[in-house]
Amino acid sequence: MAGIISMASAKGGCSKTTLSVGLGAELALMGVKVTVLDADLNQHATKFGEKAAITGFTVVGEVTETNVLGEIRKANETSDLVIVDLPGGSSMLALKAMQRSHLVVIPSQQSLLDARDAIKTVDQIEDASEACGRVIPRAILWSRVMQGFESRPAKKVRATVEGSGTPIFRAALLNRVSLQEMFLVGKALSQINVKDPGAANLKTIAEELMSRLEALAT
Ligand SMILES: Nc1ncnc2c1ncn2[C@@H]1O[C@H](COP(=O)(O)OP(=O)(O)OP(=O)(O)O)[C@@H](O)[C@H]1O
Ligand SMILES: [Mg+2]
Repeated sequence: MAGIISMASAKGGCSKTTLSVGLGAELALMGVKVTVLDADLNQHATKFGEKAAITGFTVVGEVTETNVLGEIRKANETSDLVIVDLPGGSSMLALKAMQRSHLVVIPSQQSLLDARDAIKTVDQIEDASEACGRVIPRAILWSRVMQGFESRPAKKVRATVEGSGTPIFRAALLNRVSLQEMFLVGKALSQINVKDPGAANLKTIAEELMSRLEALAT
């Protein structure tokens, strides 16, 4: 089953690129053919792709508002999964990518300011849904979560967002230094250290992502 997802957020720095690369690389190692379309101005995913040697993992750089639809179509013909790594904020580029997506993933930290911006992203997805005449599936993914510890504010924010009705991934992205090392060495976490709990965390998220896509397709 082919799937197209966008990593989107009204807020910058909430792990869109980390997830695009981390999940894409782990899924490729699991046998899924993945193309990441790098629409982030900083082109960090592209730089990772130049260093990486992972069969079935491709990064296409320089994806812009002008070429995004064509790049999604081309990547979709040759891949099992297309991940569009969007820049933060609202843009025509994001609206176009969202309209082509089977699922928009909204990474957000569990803080009030980040959660407000995640809700803003949901509004953008509603706009994109209006524009294309279908409800675009979306899900929030908590990012940079501290393992085994949830602060009082984080708990409150989580409860509020859960009450908003927007779907939320059961799995959350843990805060791990190895996710920063990944960009330095150009390797998937499980290539750096197969026993890294961060690798297991990415695999859990990857499995949930694929089962969400499968459920949406049926
Ligand atoms: N789970 C994590 N654990 C540790 N560091 C992380 C994690 N997620 C992101 N970071 C770090 O936070 C910073 C921002 O992450 P990233 O670039 O993935 O966010 P982004 O949403 O793509 O940002 P932008 O909106 O600028 O494109 C980076 O320095 C990254 O290494
Ligand atoms: Mg980014």
